[in-house]
Amino acid sequence: MAFEALRRRLEAAGQGHLLRFWAELGEAERRALGEQLQGLDCAALRGCSSSALEEAGGRPGLDGRMEPLPRAVLGSATRDAERLPEWERAGLHQISQSKVAVLLLAGGQGTRLGVPYPKGMYDVGLPSHKTLFQIQAERILKLQQLAEEQHGTKCVIPWYIMTSGRTMESTKEFFLKHNYFGLKQENVIFFQQGMLPAMGFDGKILLEEKSKVAMAPDGNGGLYRALGAHGIVEDMERRGIWSIHMYCVDNILVKVADPRFIGFCIEKGAECGAKVVEKTNPMEPVGVVCRVDGMYQVVEYSEISLATAQKRSPDGRLLFNAGNIANHYLTVPFLRAVVDIYEPQLKHHVAQKKIPYVDLTTGQLVKPDKPNGIKMEKFVFDIFPFAKQFVVYEVLREDEFSPLKNADSQNGKDDPTAARHALMSLHHCWVLNAGGHFVDENGTRIPVIPRIPNGRPDAIPADVHCTLKDANDLPVQCEISPLVSYGGEGLEKYVENKEFHAPLIIDENGVHEWGKNNV
Ligand code: UD1
Repeated sequence: MAFEALRRRLEAAGQGHLLRFWAELGEAERRALGEQLQGLDCAALRGCSSSALEEAGGRPGLDGRMEPLPRAVLGSATRDAERLPEWERAGLHQISQSKVAVLLLAGGQGTRLGVPYPKGMYDVGLPSHKTLFQIQAERILKLQQLAEEQHGTKCVIPWYIMTSGRTMESTKEFFLKHNYFGLKQENVIFFQQGMLPAMGFDGKILLEEKSKVAMAPDGNGGLYRALGAHGIVEDMERRGIWSIHMYCVDNILVKVADPRFIGFCIEKGAECGAKVVEKTNPMEPVGVVCRVDGMYQVVEYSEISLATAQKRSPDGRLLFNAGNIANHYLTVPFLRAVVDIYEPQLKHHVAQKKIPYVDLTTGQLVKPDKPNGIKMEKFVFDIFPFAKQFVVYEVLREDEFSPLKNADSQNGKDDPTAARHALMSLHHCWVLNAGGHFVDENGTRIPVIPRIPNGRPDAIPADVHCTLKDANDLPVQCEISPLVSYGGEGLEKYVENKEFHAPLIIDENGVHEWGKNNV
């Protein structure tokens, strides 16, 4: 009887083919498929897939409706350098009061990187071989310590980690195996985002196996439903959290719970904020923060036309140059309103993908070599238009943004090598700024050249900068544990007026200068 009702419901929704192999299935397989199909709201799915597909045909007149950001909402780590100590103090004060939490989006499948495990578990090949998760955990530990030292109070930065059906178990096991990298287990809170079925271009849901619907995570904007479903906002309220720093797992330079960003957002009375770097290449796969019909939002790289992406201002910079680095600020009351009121208004975006599927005629699994269907996703930043006060904070790419998206390849973009080099270059700069020097195998100092980001003299921060490469055109190998320094502070006692041979590691056990032994 139950089967008949299910069959009728699926057929009415144009999805009757999902039972195509029912007769061949064993008892357990039937039960599993039946449960999966019972959970699908086919009518709602049809509604969102057709509107998502319409959008995929191009958002009407988007180009003409986009405007760059007004200067009034923009703070800058370089132009406003004199305000940084004040923002940092305000942020650290909030942290010391245990009012700041971090929220990590780690439900992606990492398809482009091509590893069968969660991206946070990836080791980009630093001298320490730390994974992205460990680096982030240690930054949290260090920040708690800095806030405690400044304010004399014990504090906690809870870490909320969103995973998906595909990443939950392995992520949890990894944290357990590594003893939560020194954090307290009760302050690391995992929760799981939802999944949506994948469809062919005709709107028909695909089967991944004869007894299994092809499902994919519902995008990083699935966060808001998941927060509601798992009582996470309640947990934040219970802990007395006010500010949330939300970020993506793949950026090796991420300044987790950045006190300056938090202090800036608080000072501006913002409900929501975004960190950006200057986008200089129109083709770079980053969204741009801008206004559309007067509302703040991100236009994603997959949705902007090339002509618009290439537009330039009279000063030669890209007109839409506020590159989204997926670091967002939210207050808990705003998050509460998003979860309770605005979430259902967020639209689905369509991604055309290669989705393996079972051919309904032959029953064979097909692995397509070009996109054959769609996955529907919500985007985490689609809540920006609902914020009463929205701000944007611009930082230097060299200091804060090197995302790990691709496997190592010839073009060297956003890959493990690029991430490793970005971190070591930054740490090399920290050593120079703290009064240390590097020498080559002949004992000659490696020259220091001022760093002029993107050729912009106004973007040079006050402190010393450095050449990023050694004589072989590779970055000087230098890694500083986040347990020693969060953002370059406190290094003088290790490096001032000293000369080092790379590779140099500074960690909680001291200074390790491997190169010296090899000379
Ligand atoms: C994302 C941003 C883009 C930004 C770029 C910077 C979104 C929608 N796009 O693009 O504007 O310029 O980062 O690097 O935010 N994730 C989930 N669940 C999912 C899908 C993804 O948690 O269902 C997580 C991933 O684990 C990752 C993050 O969201 O931490 C970003 O996902 P990814 O697919 O890498 O985003 P991009 O397309 O690179």
